[in-house]
Amino acid sequence: MDITITRTTQPKPKPADGDLSFGTLFTDHMFQMDYAPDQGWHNPRIEPYGPITMDPATMVLHYGQGVFEGLKAFRTADDEIRMFRPQDNMKRLNRSARALCIPELDEELALTALKQLVDLDRDWVPRTHGTSLYIRPTIIAMDPFLGVRASHTYRYYVILGPVGAYYAEGFNPVKIWVSKEHVRAVRGGLGESKTMANYAASLYAGEAAHRHGYTQVLWLDGVEQRYVEEVGSMNICFVIDGELATPELNGSILPGITRDSVLALGRKWGLTVSERKITIDEVFAAHAKGTLEEVFGTGTAAVVSPVGELKYDDQVITIGDGKVGPLAQKFFDSIMDIQYGRSDDAEGWIVPV
Ligand SMILES: Cc1ncc(COP(=O)(O)O)c(C=O)c1O
Repeated sequence: MDITITRTTQPKPKPADGDLSFGTLFTDHMFQMDYAPDQGWHNPRIEPYGPITMDPATMVLHYGQGVFEGLKAFRTADDEIRMFRPQDNMKRLNRSARALCIPELDEELALTALKQLVDLDRDWVPRTHGTSLYIRPTIIAMDPFLGVRASHTYRYYVILGPVGAYYAEGFNPVKIWVSKEHVRAVRGGLGESKTMANYAASLYAGEAAHRHGYTQVLWLDGVEQRYVEEVGSMNICFVIDGELATPELNGSILPGITRDSVLALGRKWGLTVSERKITIDEVFAAHAKGTLEEVFGTGTAAVVSPVGELKYDDQVITIGDGKVGPLAQKFFDSIMDIQYGRSDDAEGWIVPV
Protein backbone atom coordinates (compact mmCIF):
# COMPACT_ATOMS: atom_id res chain seq x y z
CA MET A 1 0.00 0.00 0.00
CA ASP A 2 1.48 3.36 -1.00
CA ILE A 3 1.40 6.22 1.41
CA THR A 4 0.21 9.46 -0.21
CA ILE A 5 2.00 12.57 0.95
CA THR A 6 0.56 16.09 1.08
CA ARG A 7 3.16 18.57 2.29
CA THR A 8 2.29 21.58 4.37
CA THR A 9 2.38 24.96 2.65
CA GLN A 10 2.70 26.71 6.03
CA PRO A 11 5.64 25.23 7.94
CA LYS A 12 5.71 26.31 11.58
CA PRO A 13 8.71 28.03 13.17
CA LYS A 14 10.90 25.53 15.03
CA PRO A 15 11.72 26.18 18.67
CA ALA A 16 15.24 26.57 20.06
CA ASP A 17 16.43 23.36 21.74
CA GLY A 18 16.72 25.18 25.06
CA ASP A 19 13.01 26.12 25.02
CA LEU A 20 11.75 22.55 24.59
CA SER A 21 9.56 20.89 27.20
CA PHE A 22 7.43 17.74 26.81
CA GLY A 23 4.18 17.28 24.93
CA THR A 24 3.36 20.86 24.02
CA LEU A 25 4.67 21.31 20.47
CA PHE A 26 3.98 19.25 17.37
CA THR A 27 5.65 19.07 13.98
CA ASP A 28 4.31 20.03 10.54
CA HIS A 29 2.90 16.66 9.47
CA MET A 30 0.93 13.67 10.75
CA PHE A 31 0.22 10.18 9.43
CA GLN A 32 -3.38 8.93 9.19
CA MET A 33 -5.12 5.76 8.04
CA ASP A 34 -8.74 4.55 8.34
CA TYR A 35 -10.40 1.23 9.04
CA ALA A 36 -13.78 0.07 7.77
CA PRO A 37 -14.98 -3.56 7.92
CA ASP A 38 -15.34 -3.84 4.13
CA GLN A 39 -12.03 -2.12 3.32
CA GLY A 40 -9.75 -3.08 6.19
CA TRP A 41 -7.06 -0.50 6.97
CA HIS A 42 -6.94 1.84 3.98
CA ASN A 43 -5.99 5.27 2.70
CA PRO A 44 -2.59 5.63 4.43
CA ARG A 45 -1.54 9.25 4.11
CA ILE A 46 0.79 11.89 5.46
CA GLU A 47 -0.85 15.29 5.70
CA PRO A 48 -0.27 18.65 7.36
CA TYR A 49 -0.69 18.41 11.16
CA GLY A 50 -4.16 19.55 12.15
CA PRO A 51 -7.37 18.84 14.07
CA ILE A 52 -9.40 15.65 13.57
CA THR A 53 -13.06 16.51 13.07
CA MET A 54 -15.40 14.12 14.83
CA ASP A 55 -19.04 13.66 15.63
CA PRO A 56 -19.82 14.37 19.31
CA ALA A 57 -21.07 10.76 19.55
CA THR A 58 -17.72 9.30 18.37
CA MET A 59 -17.26 6.16 20.44
CA VAL A 60 -13.73 6.78 21.72
CA LEU A 61 -14.96 9.93 23.46
CA HIS A 62 -17.54 7.97 25.45
CA TYR A 63 -16.18 4.48 25.99
CA GLY A 64 -12.43 5.00 25.71
CA GLN A 65 -11.89 2.38 23.02
CA GLY A 66 -8.45 3.48 21.96
CA VAL A 67 -4.79 2.49 22.28
CA PHE A 68 -1.52 4.33 21.83
CA GLU A 69 2.24 4.14 21.96
CA GLY A 70 5.19 6.34 22.87
CA LEU A 71 8.68 6.12 21.40
CA LYS A 72 11.47 8.42 20.32
CA ALA A 73 13.75 9.34 17.43
CA PHE A 74 17.23 10.72 18.13
CA ARG A 75 19.80 12.75 16.21
CA THR A 76 23.39 11.52 16.43
CA ALA A 77 26.49 13.73 16.38
CA ASP A 78 26.83 12.73 12.67
CA ASP A 79 23.32 14.02 11.97
CA GLU A 80 21.82 10.57 11.51
CA ILE A 81 18.20 10.19 12.63
CA ARG A 82 17.30 6.88 14.27
CA MET A 83 14.48 5.30 16.26
CA PHE A 84 14.90 3.05 19.31
CA ARG A 85 13.18 -0.37 19.05
CA PRO A 86 10.17 0.87 17.02
CA GLN A 87 9.18 -2.68 16.01
CA ASP A 88 8.61 -3.45 19.69
CA ASN A 89 6.28 -0.47 20.02
CA MET A 90 4.32 -1.60 16.96
CA LYS A 91 4.03 -5.12 18.41
CA ARG A 92 2.82 -3.70 21.72
CA LEU A 93 0.34 -1.45 19.89
CA ASN A 94 -1.13 -4.52 18.22
CA ARG A 95 -1.24 -6.41 21.55
CA SER A 96 -3.10 -3.49 23.11
CA ALA A 97 -5.40 -3.35 20.05
CA ARG A 98 -6.32 -7.04 20.44
CA ALA A 99 -7.21 -6.46 24.09
CA LEU A 100 -9.58 -3.65 23.10
CA CYS A 101 -11.20 -5.44 20.12
CA ILE A 102 -9.47 -3.06 17.68
CA PRO A 103 -8.31 -4.49 14.32
CA GLU A 104 -4.54 -4.94 14.20
CA LEU A 105 -2.22 -2.97 11.93
CA ASP A 106 0.19 -4.44 9.42
CA GLU A 107 3.40 -3.92 11.46
CA GLU A 108 5.56 -3.53 8.37
CA LEU A 109 3.32 -0.80 6.93
CA ALA A 110 3.16 0.87 10.34
CA LEU A 111 6.97 0.91 10.57
CA THR A 112 7.30 2.27 7.02
CA ALA A 113 4.81 5.01 7.91
CA LEU A 114 6.84 5.97 11.01
CA LYS A 115 10.03 6.16 8.96
CA GLN A 116 8.43 8.25 6.19
CA LEU A 117 6.79 10.64 8.64
CA VAL A 118 9.94 11.16 10.73
CA ASP A 119 11.97 11.56 7.54
CA LEU A 120 9.61 14.27 6.23
CA ASP A 121 9.85 16.15 9.55
CA ARG A 122 13.52 15.30 10.19
CA ASP A 123 14.48 18.96 10.61
CA TRP A 124 12.29 18.93 13.72
CA VAL A 125 14.54 16.42 15.50
CA PRO A 126 16.46 18.60 17.97
CA ARG A 127 20.26 18.54 18.18
CA THR A 128 21.25 18.97 21.81
CA HIS A 129 22.22 15.78 23.66
CA GLY A 130 19.24 14.56 25.67
CA THR A 131 16.63 16.13 23.40
CA SER A 132 14.63 13.97 20.97
CA LEU A 133 11.54 13.67 18.80
CA TYR A 134 8.67 12.01 20.66
CA ILE A 135 6.43 9.81 18.48
CA ARG A 136 2.82 9.13 19.47
CA PRO A 137 0.96 6.50 17.40
CA THR A 138 -2.74 6.27 18.38
CA ILE A 139 -5.78 4.23 17.30
CA ILE A 140 -9.29 5.46 18.15
CA ALA A 141 -12.82 4.08 17.73
CA MET A 142 -14.65 6.29 15.23
CA ASP A 143 -18.28 5.08 14.99
CA PRO A 144 -20.71 7.90 15.86
CA PHE A 145 -22.78 5.71 18.17
CA LEU A 146 -23.97 5.64 21.76
CA GLY A 147 -24.12 2.16 23.21
CA VAL A 148 -21.42 -0.12 24.55
CA ARG A 149 -19.98 -2.40 21.88
CA ALA A 150 -16.79 -2.47 19.81
CA SER A 151 -16.74 0.17 17.09
CA HIS A 152 -16.83 -0.87 13.43
CA THR A 153 -14.62 1.98 12.17
CA TYR A 154 -11.28 3.30 13.43
CA ARG A 155 -8.64 5.94 12.75
CA TYR A 156 -4.91 5.34 13.20
CA TYR A 157 -2.76 8.46 13.42
CA VAL A 158 0.79 9.36 14.37
CA ILE A 159 1.91 12.75 15.63
CA LEU A 160 5.44 13.92 16.47
CA GLY A 161 6.80 16.53 18.83
CA PRO A 162 10.30 17.72 19.71
CA VAL A 163 10.99 17.24 23.43
CA GLY A 164 13.58 18.64 25.80
CA ALA A 165 16.20 16.79 27.80
CA TYR A 166 14.30 15.07 30.62
CA TYR A 167 16.98 15.93 33.16
CA ALA A 168 17.83 19.45 32.06
CA GLU A 169 18.52 20.32 35.70
CA GLY A 170 20.38 17.13 36.56
CA PHE A 171 19.68 13.48 37.13
CA ASN A 172 18.16 13.63 40.62
CA PRO A 173 16.27 11.00 42.63
CA VAL A 174 12.56 11.61 43.15
CA LYS A 175 10.21 11.11 46.12
CA ILE A 176 7.55 8.43 45.64
CA TRP A 177 4.26 7.88 47.44
CA VAL A 178 3.04 4.28 47.75
CA SER A 179 -0.71 4.26 47.08
CA LYS A 180 -2.68 2.20 49.60
CA GLU A 181 -6.18 3.22 48.62
CA HIS A 182 -6.12 3.49 44.86
CA VAL A 183 -5.05 0.93 42.30
CA ARG A 184 -4.17 1.51 38.64
CA ALA A 185 -5.23 -1.82 37.16
CA VAL A 186 -6.16 -5.39 38.04
CA ARG A 187 -5.09 -8.74 36.63
CA GLY A 188 -7.58 -9.74 33.96
CA GLY A 189 -8.22 -6.07 33.20
CA LEU A 190 -6.38 -3.64 30.93
CA GLY A 191 -3.19 -2.94 32.89
CA GLU A 192 -0.87 -4.56 30.35
CA SER A 193 -2.43 -2.54 27.50
CA LYS A 194 -1.48 1.02 26.64
CA THR A 195 -4.99 2.42 26.70
CA MET A 196 -6.57 5.64 27.91
CA ALA A 197 -8.45 4.06 30.82
CA ASN A 198 -5.26 3.18 32.71
CA TYR A 199 -4.11 6.79 32.67
CA ALA A 200 -7.54 8.07 33.72
CA ALA A 201 -7.43 5.59 36.63
CA SER A 202 -4.06 6.95 37.73
CA LEU A 203 -5.03 10.63 38.03
CA TYR A 204 -6.68 10.74 41.46
CA ALA A 205 -3.80 9.13 43.34
CA GLY A 206 -1.29 11.10 41.27
CA GLU A 207 -2.90 14.39 42.31
CA ALA A 208 -3.00 13.27 45.95
CA ALA A 209 0.72 12.38 45.80
CA HIS A 210 1.53 15.84 44.37
CA ARG A 211 -0.47 17.55 47.11
CA HIS A 212 1.72 15.76 49.66
CA GLY A 213 4.94 16.80 47.93
CA TYR A 214 5.62 13.51 46.11
CA THR A 215 6.46 13.27 42.40
CA GLN A 216 4.85 9.95 41.49
CA VAL A 217 2.79 7.07 42.83
CA LEU A 218 4.10 3.56 43.38
CA TRP A 219 1.23 1.25 42.43
CA LEU A 220 0.51 -1.95 44.32
CA ASP A 221 -1.47 -4.84 42.81
CA GLY A 222 -5.21 -4.36 42.52
CA VAL A 223 -6.25 -7.54 44.34
CA GLU A 224 -4.26 -7.79 47.57
CA GLN A 225 -2.47 -4.44 47.52
CA ARG A 226 0.74 -6.20 48.60
CA TYR A 227 2.76 -6.62 45.41
CA VAL A 228 4.66 -3.78 43.77
CA GLU A 229 3.61 -3.15 40.15
CA GLU A 230 4.73 0.13 38.55
CA VAL A 231 5.81 3.65 39.43
CA GLY A 232 3.85 6.52 37.85
CA SER A 233 3.95 5.65 34.15
CA MET A 234 7.18 3.69 34.43
CA ASN A 235 8.21 0.16 35.32
CA ILE A 236 10.18 -0.28 38.52
CA CYS A 237 13.46 -2.02 39.38
CA PHE A 238 15.05 -2.76 42.75
CA VAL A 239 18.61 -3.70 43.56
CA ILE A 240 18.33 -5.88 46.67
CA ASP A 241 21.53 -7.44 48.00
CA GLY A 242 23.12 -7.49 44.55
CA GLU A 243 20.02 -8.83 42.73
CA LEU A 244 18.35 -6.69 40.04
CA ALA A 245 14.66 -7.48 40.59
CA THR A 246 11.56 -6.20 38.83
CA PRO A 247 7.92 -7.30 39.13
CA GLU A 248 7.05 -10.13 36.76
CA LEU A 249 4.62 -9.34 33.94
CA ASN A 250 1.39 -10.55 35.47
CA GLY A 251 -1.24 -9.03 33.20
CA SER A 252 -1.70 -5.75 35.04
CA ILE A 253 1.77 -4.30 34.32
CA LEU A 254 2.72 -2.59 31.05
CA PRO A 255 5.55 -4.57 29.41
CA GLY A 256 7.92 -1.63 29.06
CA ILE A 257 10.49 -1.57 26.30
CA THR A 258 12.97 0.26 28.53
CA ARG A 259 12.34 -2.41 31.20
CA ASP A 260 13.17 -5.08 28.64
CA SER A 261 16.31 -3.17 27.57
CA VAL A 262 17.50 -2.84 31.20
CA LEU A 263 16.92 -6.56 31.85
CA ALA A 264 18.76 -7.52 28.64
CA LEU A 265 21.76 -5.31 29.47
CA GLY A 266 21.76 -6.50 33.11
CA ARG A 267 21.88 -10.14 31.96
CA LYS A 268 24.61 -9.33 29.44
CA TRP A 269 26.67 -7.67 32.18
CA GLY A 270 26.37 -10.83 34.29
CA LEU A 271 24.08 -9.41 36.97
CA THR A 272 21.62 -11.62 38.82
CA VAL A 273 18.36 -10.53 37.18
CA SER A 274 14.91 -11.65 38.36
CA GLU A 275 11.39 -11.00 37.21
CA ARG A 276 9.35 -12.06 40.20
CA LYS A 277 6.74 -11.06 42.75
CA ILE A 278 8.03 -8.32 45.07
CA THR A 279 5.94 -7.30 48.08
CA ILE A 280 6.09 -3.79 49.48
CA ASP A 281 6.91 -5.43 52.84
CA GLU A 282 9.98 -7.07 51.29
CA VAL A 283 11.17 -3.66 50.06
CA PHE A 284 10.80 -2.06 53.50
CA ALA A 285 12.33 -5.12 55.23
CA ALA A 286 15.33 -4.99 52.86
CA HIS A 287 15.77 -1.34 53.73
CA ALA A 288 15.67 -2.17 57.45
CA LYS A 289 18.36 -4.85 56.91
CA GLY A 290 20.49 -2.47 54.87
CA THR A 291 20.20 -4.53 51.65
CA LEU A 292 17.98 -2.18 49.59
CA GLU A 293 20.71 -0.73 47.40
CA GLU A 294 18.79 1.04 44.64
CA VAL A 295 15.29 1.72 43.35
CA PHE A 296 14.61 3.23 39.94
CA GLY A 297 11.86 3.59 37.36
CA THR A 298 12.34 2.83 33.65
CA GLY A 299 10.47 4.33 30.69
CA THR A 300 10.83 6.01 27.31
CA ALA A 301 10.45 9.57 28.63
CA ALA A 302 13.22 9.53 31.27
CA VAL A 303 15.04 6.24 30.42
CA VAL A 304 15.87 5.78 34.12
CA SER A 305 14.40 7.71 37.04
CA PRO A 306 16.11 7.05 40.39
CA VAL A 307 13.93 6.90 43.52
CA GLY A 308 15.40 8.62 46.58
CA GLU A 309 12.51 8.32 49.02
CA LEU A 310 9.51 6.00 49.48
CA LYS A 311 6.52 6.75 51.71
CA TYR A 312 4.16 3.92 52.64
CA ASP A 313 1.56 4.62 55.35
CA ASP A 314 3.52 6.50 57.96
CA GLN A 315 6.86 4.91 57.12
CA VAL A 316 9.32 6.94 55.07
CA ILE A 317 12.62 5.49 53.85
CA THR A 318 15.56 7.11 52.09
CA ILE A 319 17.32 4.99 49.49
CA GLY A 320 21.07 5.22 48.82
CA ASP A 321 21.31 8.43 50.89
CA GLY A 322 18.99 10.04 48.34
CA LYS A 323 21.74 9.86 45.69
CA VAL A 324 21.76 8.23 42.23
CA GLY A 325 22.93 4.62 42.51
CA PRO A 326 25.71 3.18 40.34
CA LEU A 327 23.45 0.77 38.41
CA ALA A 328 20.79 3.41 37.69
CA GLN A 329 23.58 5.62 36.35
CA LYS A 330 25.11 2.80 34.28
CA PHE A 331 21.78 1.82 32.67
CA PHE A 332 20.97 5.47 31.98
CA ASP A 333 24.34 6.16 30.34
CA SER A 334 24.45 2.88 28.40
CA ILE A 335 20.97 3.19 26.90
CA MET A 336 21.46 6.87 26.02
CA ASP A 337 24.81 6.04 24.41
CA ILE A 338 23.12 3.46 22.17
CA GLN A 339 20.26 5.85 21.34
CA TYR A 340 22.57 8.75 20.41
CA GLY A 341 25.09 6.57 18.53
CA ARG A 342 27.88 7.04 21.07
CA SER A 343 28.28 3.28 21.45
CA ASP A 344 27.72 0.28 19.21
CA ASP A 345 24.21 -1.03 18.77
CA ALA A 346 25.24 -4.57 19.69
CA GLU A 347 21.64 -5.57 20.51
CA GLY A 348 20.20 -4.41 17.14
CA TRP A 349 17.83 -1.91 18.78
CA ILE A 350 18.37 0.98 16.37
CA VAL A 351 16.35 1.59 13.20
CA PRO A 352 17.81 4.35 11.01
CA VAL A 353 15.42 6.76 9.30
C1 LIG B 1 2.01 2.64 32.57
C2 LIG B 1 3.37 2.61 31.96
N1 LIG B 1 4.27 1.72 32.43
C3 LIG B 1 5.51 1.62 31.91
C4 LIG B 1 5.92 2.44 30.87
C5 LIG B 1 7.31 2.30 30.32
O1 LIG B 1 7.27 1.71 29.04
P1 LIG B 1 8.37 2.02 27.96
O2 LIG B 1 9.68 1.63 28.56
O3 LIG B 1 8.02 1.15 26.80
O4 LIG B 1 8.29 3.46 27.65
C6 LIG B 1 5.03 3.39 30.35
C7 LIG B 1 5.43 4.30 29.27
O5 LIG B 1 5.25 3.98 28.12
C8 LIG B 1 3.72 3.46 30.90
O6 LIG B 1 2.82 4.35 30.42
